[in-house]
Amino acid sequence: MLGCGVVGQGVLRTIATRRESLARRLGAPIEVRRVVARDPDKERGEHAPRELLSFDPETVLGDPEIDVVVEVMGGLDPAGAHVVRAIEAGKSVVTANKFLLAERGSELFELAEARGVDLAFEAAVCGGIPVIRVLREALVSDNVVALRGIVNGTSNYILSRMYDEKIDFSVALRGAQDAGYAEADPTLDVNGGDALHKLTILASLAFGTRVLPSQIHQEGIEHVAAIDMQMAARFGYVIKLLAIARALPNGALDLRVHPALVPDDSVIASISGALNAIYIEGESLGPLMISGYGAGSMPTAMSVVSDIVDVGRNLMMGSRGRVTHRSLAAREVRDPGHHVGRYYLRFTVMDRPGVLARIAGVLGAFDVSIEQMIQEGRASADGEPVHVVMLTHACKDANVRSALREIHMLSGISEPARAIRVEEG
Ligand SMILES: NC(=O)c1ccc[n+]([C@@H]2O[C@H](COP(=O)([O-])OP(=O)(O)OC[C@H]3O[C@@H](n4cnc5c(N)ncnc54)[C@H](OP(=O)(O)O)[C@@H]3O)[C@@H](O)[C@H]2O)c1
Repeated sequence: MLGCGVVGQGVLRTIATRRESLARRLGAPIEVRRVVARDPDKERGEHAPRELLSFDPETVLGDPEIDVVVEVMGGLDPAGAHVVRAIEAGKSVVTANKFLLAERGSELFELAEARGVDLAFEAAVCGGIPVIRVLREALVSDNVVALRGIVNGTSNYILSRMYDEKIDFSVALRGAQDAGYAEADPTLDVNGGDALHKLTILASLAFGTRVLPSQIHQEGIEHVAAIDMQMAARFGYVIKLLAIARALPNGALDLRVHPALVPDDSVIASISGALNAIYIEGESLGPLMISGYGAGSMPTAMSVVSDIVDVGRNLMMGSRGRVTHRSLAAREVRDPGHHVGRYYLRFTVMDRPGVLARIAGVLGAFDVSIEQMIQEGRASADGEPVHVVMLTHACKDANVRSALREIHMLSGISEPARAIRVEEG
C-alpha cells in the first residue's frame, strides 16, 4: 500500500478486523506486505506496526511477490508515476485518487488493459457509495440519459449549515474545518474542483465516453451568501452544489458543476450535512438514486477493500481485466452559454428611484423575463444598499451573463449581481 493516512489506516483496520470474513469470501487471505509513507515519526495506529512500514516506494513497486498495489497517497505526483510503474510491473492497482484518474485516467486505463492488469477505483468517487460498480457493471446495458449528484460532502455540509443556522459562508466554512469535514486548504471542495474531478469519472462511465476536466463548466459555492439561502427559501428552494451530466437530443453532453436552486420538497434537497447522493436516469431502468457517506476513513476504506477483494478474485481465476474501463472516443460537449433554464438573480442596489426600472430594462433587452421578484425592505437612513432578488423564466445562459455585465455598468449598483441556476426536480 502506498500511503497510510486517513484512508490507508482505514484500509489496514478493515483488513485486520474482518480478516476471517474477507478470507472466506475471497477464498484466500489478504496479506498486507508493505505500507509506504513519508514521515517516520507519525503515529499510525495499532494496525500499522513498524515492521510493515517503509519510506521507499521501491520496496512495494520492485517486489515481485506483491500482486496488488493500493495507491492511497493522493495527488498527481509521485502517485501517477508509481501507478504506471506498478502496472508496467504487471501488478493490479486499486486507487482512491480521483485527481489522478480525472487528469490521466485514459492513459492509465489503456496501460492497464495493454498489460492485462486491473485498475480498480471504487473509492475515487463518493468514497463509500458503490456508484462506480453501479455505472460500470449494473447499468452497462442501459442507456444513461442523465446523472445529477451532490458529490462533495464538505460543500454540502457548509451549505446545510448556512441554511439551517442562517450563517454566512465564511462562518460555516470555519465550522466545517473545526468539525474535521474541511481540509486546512479547502479550495478544491468549495470551488467545485473536487466535484469536477468526480464528474469527469462519473460522466465518462455513464456515457461510455472520454471526458476531460477542461470540458466541464465549474463554479463553486464561495459566492453563495446567507441572504441567497434565505431568499431561495422564500421562493421554495434550497441551494446545493450539483454535479450534472446530461445527454442532449443532438448527442452532445451537457456537463456542469455549480450551485443550484433545487425545490425544497425534492429528494436531492433532503440530502444534508456530509452525505452525498447520486441520481441516475437510465432509458430502460428509469430513475435510480443512491446516497451515503462520500468520504471518511472507514466508508472510503470499505470501497478500497472491496476492490482488493474483486481484484484478488480476478487474480485467482486468471481473469484480469474482466471489468475494464475501456477508453472510448470523445463526444461533443455543449458550450455552457447555450444552457437554457431559469435563474435566481440577486442585485445589491442603492434604493433610488429608477434603478429597478433600468435593471428590468436591460434584462428585457436580453430576453431575460422576470417571473417573481422580492425587494428586501427599504434602505436605512445612512444609505445602505438593499437586495433585490428575482426568479426568471427560462432563458439562455449567455443572455443572462451579457445582461449582468451591462447592469454592472449602471449607476446605483453597488456590487456585482449574483446568478444561480435553478434545477427543477
Ligand atoms: N479522506 C477521504 O475521506 C477520502 C475519500 C475518498 C477518496 N480519498 C482519496 O484517497 C487518497 C488518500 O486520501 P487521505 O485522506 O487518506 O490522504 P492523507 O490522509 O493525506 O494520506 C496520504 C498518505 O500518503 C502518504 N504520502 C503522500 N505523499 C507521499 C510521498 N510522496 N511518498 C510517500 N508517502 C506519501 C502520506 O504520508 P505521511 O503520513 O507520512 O505524511 C500519508 O500517509 C486521495 O487520493 C484522496 O483523494 C480520500
